[in-house]
Amino acid sequence: MNNQLLLDNLRCIPDWPIKGVNFRDVSTLFKNPASLKEISDEMYELYKDKGITKIVGIESRGFVMSSALAIRLGAGVVLCRKPGKLPCKTVQESYAKEYGIDTIEIHEDAINEDDIVLLHDDLLATGGTMKAACNLVKKFHPKKVYANFIIELVNENFEGRNSFDPDVEVTTLLQL
Ligand code: PRP
Ligand code: HPA
Repeated sequence: MNNQLLLDNLRCIPDWPIKGVNFRDVSTLFKNPASLKEISDEMYELYKDKGITKIVGIESRGFVMSSALAIRLGAGVVLCRKPGKLPCKTVQESYAKEYGIDTIEIHEDAINEDDIVLLHDDLLATGGTMKAACNLVKKFHPKKVYANFIIELVNENFEGRNSFDPDVEVTTLLQL
C-alpha cells in the first residue's frame, strides 16, 4: 500500500475536540480521489476472498468506506448507530467511555447466523467503540467476525488492539 499517499492526505488537528487530542481527520483522505481509491483498493485486497456478506459501518466516519467496499464485494451494509437514530427495533450494547457510558445499536433483523461480518471504522484508539460493536454483532451469532480500521493509533498507549477477543481478526491500513 502507498502509505505516503495516505500520510500526505491525512489532516491532523491539534487540541480538537479538546486540548491534548491530536485529531486525525479522515475527511481529507476521503476528499482526495487518489487516497480514497488507495484505501478502497487496499480494503478490497484484504477482504476479497473472505466471503464477507455484511459490512457493519460504525457511525459516522465508518459509514463511508463500508458502503464503498460492500459494493465491490457484493456484500450488504449494516448501520451501527448511536442511540435513538434507528427507526425499528434494535439490539444494543453499552460501553464505558472516558466520562460516562455510551450505547450503540443495530436493527434486530440486520444480521443472521449465515453472515460473515466485517466491522469497519475510521480509527482505532482505545478500542472501546469497536469492542462494543463486536459484542453487539456476536449477539447475532454470525459465522465469523472481522474488524478493520483505516488508522490505528499505536504511539499513544491506547493498546486498542488488545481489547478484542482473539477470534476477531483485526486489520488496519495505517499505523500512527
Ligand atoms: C471516533 C472514531 C471511532 C472512535 C474511536 O468516533 O471515529 O469511532 O471514536 O475511539 P475508540 O477506539 O477509543 O473507541 P466518535 O465517537 O468521535 O464518533 P463520530 O464518528 O460519530 O464523530
Ligand atoms: N480521529 C477520529 N476519532 C478519534 C480520534 C482521532 O484522532 N481519536 C480518538 N477518536
